[in-house]
Amino acid sequence: MTQFYLPNAESTREFGKKLGQLLPPNSILLLEGNLGAGKTTFVQGLATGLDIPDSVESPTFTLINEYTTGRIPLYHLDLYRLESSEIVDLNLEQYWEGIEVEAGIVAIEWADRLPYKPEFYLKIELIYTEKGERILTIFNKGQDDFNLDLDRF
Ligand SMILES: Nc1ncnc2c1ncn2[C@@H]1O[C@H](COP(=O)(O)OP(=O)(O)O)[C@@H](O)[C@H]1O
Ligand SMILES: [Mg+2]
Repeated sequence: MTQFYLPNAESTREFGKKLGQLLPPNSILLLEGNLGAGKTTFVQGLATGLDIPDSVESPTFTLINEYTTGRIPLYHLDLYRLESSEIVDLNLEQYWEGIEVEAGIVAIEWADRLPYKPEFYLKIELIYTEKGERILTIFNKGQDDFNLDLDRF
């Protein structure tokens, strides 16, 4: 577990960008944090780090946004409006097992709603400070091949 202090939205984007530059295909990011915590802001930076030119919006209504114009595909999901049974129907395994989709980075907002979790993932938790800044905590859940080089942050 490692924590980062993010004083403003730009630093959230910058953090996402640096992670996007380091992550290998088949990485899964489970994003947790309340409404407005900065999950989508983080994914916008992630997309920049993957050289994706498109603007990234919250997929709250579309459920899944797929960006395939960068170095590595980005699959961006938001489970906010879904029930457990609807989440099961999404067959998310296809994304993290790379079944019929090109191996990419999977970023899931409201991942705490997942009825089951992938075998390996990074959990990224965003919380507010009293002053309206953010603290980001990253937990590496078995994604051992990925060595977070913290000096680069
Ligand atoms: N580190 C930060 N400090 C202050 N404001 C931030 C920070 N990161 C993001 N924000 C702002 O928080 C707001 C909500 O962010 P958003 O990414 O939409 O949250 P979420 O997707 O978690 O609901 C945006 O206005 C964004 O600019
Ligand atoms: Mg969002």
